[in-house]
Amino acid sequence: IHEEGLAAIDAAATTDALEELRVRYLGRKAELPNLLRGVGELPADQRGVVGKRANEVRRGLEERLDAARERLDAAELDVRLVADRVDVTLPGDPAQPVGRLHLITQTWREIEDVFVGLGFTVMEGPEVETVHYNFDALNHSPTHPARAPTDTFYVADDVVLRTHTSPMQVRAMEAHPPPLYVVIPGRVYRRDSDATHTPQFHQVEGLAVDSDITLADLKGTLLEFSRAIFGDERDVRLRGHFFPFTEPSVEVDVSCFNCTEGWMKDGSRCPLCRGEGWIEILGAGEVDPNVYSYVDDDRYDPEQVQGFAWGMGIERIAFLKHGVADLRLFYENDLRFLEQFG
Ligand code: PHE
Repeated sequence: IHEEGLAAIDAAATTDALEELRVRYLGRKAELPNLLRGVGELPADQRGVVGKRANEVRRGLEERLDAARERLDAAELDVRLVADRVDVTLPGDPAQPVGRLHLITQTWREIEDVFVGLGFTVMEGPEVETVHYNFDALNHSPTHPARAPTDTFYVADDVVLRTHTSPMQVRAMEAHPPPLYVVIPGRVYRRDSDATHTPQFHQVEGLAVDSDITLADLKGTLLEFSRAIFGDERDVRLRGHFFPFTEPSVEVDVSCFNCTEGWMKDGSRCPLCRGEGWIEILGAGEVDPNVYSYVDDDRYDPEQVQGFAWGMGIERIAFLKHGVADLRLFYENDLRFLEQFG
């Protein structure tokens, strides 16, 4: 047992093999410990000799095991240190792809920043809106076509997904006394889907109510906005229009930033403004006095205050500015499209 055990220990190549040998030679069921336990039953004259020798062998094996374990532990540590070595001078992983804000979010924030710079406060409001705020309080007649369920998503008889951010005009006035200068960005919903319409899109409403506010203030404000977004050379013009909640109502055009008065350098008509030289960017007007009568606050007295309001589509601003051909691209989440912005 002694010779064989020592030879096996010397030959062991791993600490695991060593542990097996310990069990085989010194474990509870091994031959040597068995023999030691049997020493008491031997004739008296043999007990001393056998016991002494067996103990020597056990000690010899234990010492050799300890020495081998120390040697193998050290060797295995060396192997691990080499394998785990980190070369801190190696270049790192190739650049990780970095996310960016969606073009709609970028444009949303850009528009907000311009109006905050002009002294407006930002508010937000509910996307699920009552018919009262979405239509009635905005002076829509009971038969106005926009109320039809073919145009508007109804959640209940008197609850809709807001079709514009304008319901926030009355909500904002009910929340704050005049003077009031607010912009309200947010999602809006209409039953519409083609290259230039998506059923969900975004608007930024603007509302200014104070004393002595005129259409000239509206024009000046939107001129500042147009120059900040489309470039210093821009001009704006107002064209008469109709909205139930503004009087007078206008559509606002910005001078085309893609051509000179509708013409390209090569003499062809500008494809962006279709040769018009002007591009429609939003609807606006002076707040209709009737709207104030729906505001549950006497300080909004049409004899005392005047105001202007506008509503612009964020998608429209982004698509004009960046030449996006199809609005649906904004919502398909194709990285080849999204990566081009920001
Ligand atoms: N709410 C109108 C729309 O969605 C835009 C608008 C807002 C017009 C405010 C006038 C005043 O088309």
